[in-house]
Amino acid sequence: MSQLTQSPAWRALLDHARSWSDRGLRDLFAQDAARAETYSAEAAGLFLDYSKQRIDPRTLELLMALVDQQQLQSWIARMFSGALINATERRAALHIALRAPREAQIFVEGVNVVPQVHAVLDRMSAFADAVRSGLWTGDTGSRITDIVNIGIGGSDLGPRMVCEALAPFASGPRAHFVANVDGSQISATLRHLKPASTLFIIASKTFTTQETMANARTARHWLTSHLGETSVAQHFVAVSTNADAVREFGIAPANMFEFWDWVGGRYSLWSAVGLPILLTFGPLMFRELLAGAQAMDQHFSSAPPVQNLPVLLGALAVWNNNFLEAGSQVIAPYAQRLERFVNWAQQLEMESNGKSVDRDGHPVDYATTPALWGDVGTNAQHAFFQMLHQGAATHAVDFVLPIAADHDHPEQQRLLIANCLAQSAALMLGKDAGAVRAELQAKGFSGDALDSAIPHRVFRGNRPSNTLLLPRLDAYHLGALLALYEHRTFVQSVLWNINAFDQWGVELGKQLAQSVLCAMDQPSSAELDGSTRSLLSRMQP
Ligand code: F6P
Repeated sequence: MSQLTQSPAWRALLDHARSWSDRGLRDLFAQDAARAETYSAEAAGLFLDYSKQRIDPRTLELLMALVDQQQLQSWIARMFSGALINATERRAALHIALRAPREAQIFVEGVNVVPQVHAVLDRMSAFADAVRSGLWTGDTGSRITDIVNIGIGGSDLGPRMVCEALAPFASGPRAHFVANVDGSQISATLRHLKPASTLFIIASKTFTTQETMANARTARHWLTSHLGETSVAQHFVAVSTNADAVREFGIAPANMFEFWDWVGGRYSLWSAVGLPILLTFGPLMFRELLAGAQAMDQHFSSAPPVQNLPVLLGALAVWNNNFLEAGSQVIAPYAQRLERFVNWAQQLEMESNGKSVDRDGHPVDYATTPALWGDVGTNAQHAFFQMLHQGAATHAVDFVLPIAADHDHPEQQRLLIANCLAQSAALMLGKDAGAVRAELQAKGFSGDALDSAIPHRVFRGNRPSNTLLLPRLDAYHLGALLALYEHRTFVQSVLWNINAFDQWGVELGKQLAQSVLCAMDQPSSAELDGSTRSLLSRMQP
């Protein structure tokens, strides 16, 4: 048994959870007219309604006791002060420094990192302005019309998601993203581009990631076969922590935008990894994004836990996952522009908290991150919502809804809002057999036909969800939303006593890919398992 599951706060929550087996949200709303108001909180322009969670005042009290017991406040303070909280890599986790104001002071091993952050931000801004204004041209003097970000994981998902989410505000070159080592993605991208007006950003923290380097070499070959070797200087820039590898690839240090080992890949869109955002929308909009995130950082580090959005979201996620045994965490943004938000949140949460040992290396005897998945509403309603409503397992859902539309179709915005609110209400209320019976009788059903139809139409209800409202989907509120989810991930890791900032689990696959590659060249020398050997032999000519 781990210390955590033996701890007083954990055991009290387990006991309390038993009392929830026969309690329904519908009744709680009926008994308490102020429930929606009680279970809501606001920060950085975002409004959270968590009244449809299966909680009561006692639940909240016990969750806050767990927050206390796990010393969350002290972990937050340690994170914000640059302590080496990523212990397995002896690194700080300081994405908050990337959005700190110029005058702030945040020290990592005695060095104030804020001036470095702003120096790179200033260089990125100057470069973006030069490209956007036409001052920086391609090798032949052509204006840059297209940028291609080559990166994967955190070096792709963040900037790609922001570029999609803010698309109506685009005012610079078109942004393209190539991540997959499957060559069909880069060939489809390059097919429509002109070398003379294309700028490549090679984004890789390590600058060794196999997929990114393969795509970068393909892009380099494409460019130089049209414009010659010397054109690389005007058409390639790099975003990395690895200056040597960047130089070796042939990109001059002047064209490299640096970031630091205390920025985790999945937390890096605020760093130089955000360069495509500056190029597409301009430096001012990037600063708006940072300002929204910073407002959420301030809230996270100062608001009392029970009014603190990331703390509430994190604690509720643990309640659902570990005590009410929710099957998974679904995110349903009711905003087409947030389609990629789910992928970004997936890496954020599952790469951070997909762990099975605690900070001290002991195996855990409790569930850590649930599977996180989802899609935009209303599309999701016509795909997987059937399971959310009537599946045997319960899943926790986050509804995310920007209120103001970015288009001239107010009737469609009304439909979108109505659907979002209706889905969370339906998950919570359900429909019992009595209501189904009355409805069917009104439609003329009777006898066996009526009795046999009822069970299929009953909804158990009582399925938990959060609803998060944004006034509109602009850079500031998007920044706040993303920082909220980053901090929620951290809160969960503290409550589970795991390190959210390493990712050793992706290493084994990378190593084995190298072995398989060797085996493809020299099949006889390879030490492969039987299945891999057999699959490979079927593919040999
Ligand atoms: O393989 C996982 C991972 O290490 C992620 O954590 C990271 O975001 C991604 O690969 C890309 O890494 P890099 O930026 O070093 O190319």
